[in-house]
Amino acid sequence: MATGRKAILALAVLAACSFSVSRAVTSPYLRPKPRTTLSELESLLDDAHGQTPQQVHVSTVGSDMMRVTWITEDDAPPMVEYGTTSGQYPFSETGTTTRYSYLALYRSGNIHDAVIGPLKPSTTYYYRCSSDQSREFSFRTPPSSLPFEFVIVGDLGQTGWTKTTLQHIAAADYDMLLLPGDLSYADFFQPRWDSYGRLVEPLASARPWMVTQGNHEIEKVPLLEQRAFKAYNARWRMPYDAGASPSGSNLYYSFDVAGGAAHVILLGSYTDYVAGTAQYEWLQADLAGIDRRKTAFVVALVHVPWYNSNKAHQGEGDDMRDAMEALLYGARVDAVFAGHVHAYERFTRVYEDREDPCGPVYVTIGDGGNREGLAAKYVDPQPKTSVFREASFGHGRLQVVNATNALWTWHRNDDDEPVIADHVWISSLGSNPACNE
Ligand SMILES: [Fe+2]
Repeated sequence: MATGRKAILALAVLAACSFSVSRAVTSPYLRPKPRTTLSELESLLDDAHGQTPQQVHVSTVGSDMMRVTWITEDDAPPMVEYGTTSGQYPFSETGTTTRYSYLALYRSGNIHDAVIGPLKPSTTYYYRCSSDQSREFSFRTPPSSLPFEFVIVGDLGQTGWTKTTLQHIAAADYDMLLLPGDLSYADFFQPRWDSYGRLVEPLASARPWMVTQGNHEIEKVPLLEQRAFKAYNARWRMPYDAGASPSGSNLYYSFDVAGGAAHVILLGSYTDYVAGTAQYEWLQADLAGIDRRKTAFVVALVHVPWYNSNKAHQGEGDDMRDAMEALLYGARVDAVFAGHVHAYERFTRVYEDREDPCGPVYVTIGDGGNREGLAAKYVDPQPKTSVFREASFGHGRLQVVNATNALWTWHRNDDDEPVIADHVWISSLGSNPACNE
């Protein structure tokens, strides 16, 4: 979307909503009756065969590269051919292939991965995988400057609700999707990872999907499967070894977008996080490397919310918050997005459980549409720091308009329309002198 159109959209949204927001709202919205989940048979349909690429998704690597990940049933070359004209592929790159087995019952297809580039920003590239002529894909590279629009949605799953969430996401343009954990809800049944890969492919092959992991990705089985995140790590490899501060672990990483105007940090809720651990040390160094004169916005994603007034998962994020909150606060992180709780909630700027003008805005956005349903019970009274909360499915958008302002909108999808039910303008803490003395 052109810069002008984005700005106009932002202002239109503000105008439409500017009278609707007040403090401490527990939404009275009445949801329509739940719809059925996708049937197992429907979700597992698979007409792919042999060397047909399937479950294609892309993720950014550094400032101008893209990782393409796909699966074939049979052996096939891990090669991506690409170019800026449909049907013409003057460039190619060969990557690597991996497989995994699970509980001795399941053996994955060939999981291929190739990093292509350097690529031009804001450019549509057409590509094919394993030289397969039957399926051409395309993605658009992210812009190299602001404005920049993220879609953020957690706990997606693969139900009828997931379908409408994906339809609503696809109905409006965006540059990159961020997912704070709980992807497929495969829950040990590995073919569900494949059906999930097919379900999200139309979107995930067209825009970079940057994810972190939730409890549904752990999939450890005592004695039989001792390695956590086996399927997740094999299928959703993220750029943990690229950029200015490689983490060395696929479970937490960071990257820049928009030429360094925004920095995104993805943390692992189920990886050691206290002082002295690898994740803590890496986060500390990553934050220390940010120059807020150049990086207007810093956002973090984590699966388990650090602030949560839903009765579901109450207090589960406290230990990680105790360990890491001061780091994010000290670096003036602008916003923290979490999943896990299947509802929407937005907090004001918070630090140590109190409103603080230099703390991050906390948002729970674990309402993508998974099969466990909604978390509808809230703690009463609503905490003063909780601005808006509602148990409905939906997705969020963070539109970083310029170096000082970003617009956050939450799009409820239960009424079959992506209605904006909550919004807030977030101003960059990097540009706030009172927070940078
Ligand atoms: Fe979760």
